[in-house]
Amino acid sequence: MKKLLIFGAGGHSKVCIETALSAGYTIEAIFDDDNSKEGETFLDIPIVGGTEKLLKEYPPDSYELFIAIGNNRMRMEKYEFLKDRGYSFAKLIHPFSFISKTAEIGDNVLIMPGVVVNSMTVISANVILNTGCTVDHECKIMPHVHIAPGVNLAGNVFVGTGSFLGIGSKVIQEKKIGIWNIIGAGAVIVKDTEDFGVYVGVPAKLMKKLEKI
Ligand SMILES: CC(C)(COP(=O)(O)OP(=O)(O)OC[C@H]1O[C@@H](n2cnc3c(N)ncnc32)[C@H](O)[C@@H]1OP(=O)(O)O)[C@@H](O)C(=O)NCCC(=O)NCCS
Repeated sequence: MKKLLIFGAGGHSKVCIETALSAGYTIEAIFDDDNSKEGETFLDIPIVGGTEKLLKEYPPDSYELFIAIGNNRMRMEKYEFLKDRGYSFAKLIHPFSFISKTAEIGDNVLIMPGVVVNSMTVISANVILNTGCTVDHECKIMPHVHIAPGVNLAGNVFVGTGSFLGIGSKVIQEKKIGIWNIIGAGAVIVKDTEDFGVYVGVPAKLMKKLEKI
């Protein structure tokens, strides 16, 4: 197992680091483009610099990387930038989760404690499955999605690229969440959603549309 480097030193990074340690990784350093964090440590792991330092001193052939940024768009940009420069990415899977042997898990995926991923489900690259969420059989989760703590997805749900499903929200079987949606905390999705939509309530209704990225 190559030594792991973590990119991102915010709140989300802390849970990524603890999951990585629980999964048996050794973490050499943390990076962040906010220079004011340089010299700080988390669990004795030093924050050593930003993108420039990473590219100069930590070559892709010697290290594995994990992008630990909660914001979907920022995580996507950093993941794509560093992938283009030859880095490979870890999958951080907490030992207290259940992942079906028939599920597919992409690179730079975070799976937190208490998560269940059931049969034939596809979790694409750079997705966050946060604490205690459940993703049932034959779901397809597209890249750069964040599924917040306590979310439940029934069978055959599709979640489009970059969408965020807020804490405790639910999606009934066979529904399709569009791209770059925000699903509000506690919402229950009973119909397909429009791309770039923000939905809240039970049953969920469109609250507003976001600017396209
Ligand atoms: C949906 C959400 C993104 C809206 O944020 P926002 O655009 O800043 O909206 P506001 O807080 O200005 O609220 C606008 C209105 O929507 C209502 N509203 C906001 N979130 C709601 C929700 N989840 N369910 C129902 N109504 C909601 C507010 O009460 C307010 O109603 P009002 O105009 O009658 O007072 C946000 O409230 C939310 O639910 N975020 C999810 C947070 C989360 O899951 N965090 C976990 C991180 S791991």
